[in-house]
Amino acid sequence: MHVQVGIVGAGPAGLMLARLLHLQGISSIILESRSRPYVETRVRAGLLEQGSVDLINETGMGDRLRRECLPHDGIELLFNGERHRVNMQELIGRRVYIYGQQEAVKDMIAVNLAAGVPIHFEAEAVAFEGVDSERPTIRYRHGGVEKTIACDYIAGCDGFHGVSRNGFPASGRKDYDRAYPFGWLGILVDAPPSHDELLYCHHERGFALFTMRSPTVSRLYLQVPPDEDENNWSDDRIWSEFHQRLGTGHGLKVSEGRITQKVVVEMRSYVTEPMRFGRLFLAGDSAHIVPPTGAKGMNLALSDVNVLAKAFTAFYKRGDASLFDAYSEKCLRRIWGAQHFSWWMTSLLHTMPDALSFDVRRQIAELRTITGSIAGQTLLAENYAGLPMEM
Ligand code: APR
Ligand code: PHB
Repeated sequence: MHVQVGIVGAGPAGLMLARLLHLQGISSIILESRSRPYVETRVRAGLLEQGSVDLINETGMGDRLRRECLPHDGIELLFNGERHRVNMQELIGRRVYIYGQQEAVKDMIAVNLAAGVPIHFEAEAVAFEGVDSERPTIRYRHGGVEKTIACDYIAGCDGFHGVSRNGFPASGRKDYDRAYPFGWLGILVDAPPSHDELLYCHHERGFALFTMRSPTVSRLYLQVPPDEDENNWSDDRIWSEFHQRLGTGHGLKVSEGRITQKVVVEMRSYVTEPMRFGRLFLAGDSAHIVPPTGAKGMNLALSDVNVLAKAFTAFYKRGDASLFDAYSEKCLRRIWGAQHFSWWMTSLLHTMPDALSFDVRRQIAELRTITGSIAGQTLLAENYAGLPMEM
C-alpha cells in the first residue's frame, strides 16, 4: 500500500491534518493504536481558542461544535479574597470556547470517515524505515499481524507517549524539559458549573480551577503533589478542599454533585527541536507539551498541523518544498510563545511546595499588577485567547 502522507495518531493533530490534506486532494491514512470508542471517550482538555474554532468550522467539522460549545468572553482570577474578571471580548475582541477534546475528536473522526479518509484503529505504529530516503515506510501492528505502509511523508501525531520522536537520530534532536513539583487532580462532576465562567483560584493551600463541559457537567481541578494517588482523595476530602480554595465572601458557592471521574495528571513543559527530520514531521503533543494552566495543548496541536498542511499543499500543488524547510521554525515561534504563557500562568497561580510566605505575598502582588492594569489584563487576554495561528 502507498499513500502520500502516513499519519500516526488520531488525536486532534492527526485528524485535523487528514482533513486539511483531503480538502486539498492529498491522500493520507491514519494509524491509531487505540480503539475508536476509547479515543472518543477519553477525557482530556476542553478549551479552544477562537483560531482553533475558526479552523474547525472552515474545514466543515464544526456543526455540533457550533450547537454545543460554550463561548466565554472572560475568565476570573481569585486570590487573597479578591475576585477579578478579565474581559477578553472587551479588551481584544476575541473569546474562547469550552468543548471537550473527545467531542472534537468524535466530530473529526466522523467527518474524515464520511469523506473516505481511512482511519485504522487498534493499529499501532512500531517503527519507521527510510525516513531520510525518498520512500519512507511505517511498520505497524494490526490484529496481531505486522504490516507496512509506504508513504512520501510521515506525520508523527502520536502524542507525548508515541513512537515518532524515536524516528529521529538521537544526536539530531534537542529536548527542553521542565517537570513541576505538583500535579492536578481532575474530577468530572454531574452538577451545573459553580459559575458561568472559568474560575482560576490562587490559594495558599494550592491552586484550584473551576471549569465545565456542559450546563450540567462540571470539570474541576486541584493542585496536588506530583505523584499523588487519586485513591487518597475521598469525595468528602475533595469537596472540603474546593470549598477552602474557592474561599468565602465572593458570592460564589461550590456546586457539588456526583463525581464520575478522578484522575491525577502530571504537569510538565517539554519541547523537542527540530520538528522535522528528513521526511518525518512531528506535530502536536509528540513534539511538545504544556502544563494545562494556559489551556494551550489542543490549540497548539491544531496550529502545528495548519502550518504542516500548507507545506504539503505547496509541495503537491506547486512542487514547492520550501515550506517543509520552514515548518519547524515557524511552529516553534508559536509553541515557545505558548510555552512561556503556560509556564507563567502556572507559576503565577500555583503554590510551590517550598514556598515562603514571601513568595505567596509576591504572587498576590503580581496578580494585582496584572488585574489592576489594562495593559496587564490585555497581555493575559492576548495570550489566553490565542496568539495568531501563524507567527
Ligand atoms: N501508533 C498509533 N497511534 C498512537 C501511537 C502509536 N505508536 N502512540 C500513540 N498513538 C495515538 C494515541 O492513542 C492518541 O490517540 O496517538 C494519538 C495522539 O493524540 P493526542 O495525545 O491527543 O495528541 P495530539 O493530537 O497532539 O493532541 C494534543 O492532546 O493530551 C492532549 O493536552 C493535549 O490537548 C492536547 C492534545
Ligand atoms: C478544561 O476545561 O479542562 C480546562 C480549561 C482551562 C484550563 C485547563 C483545563 O486552563
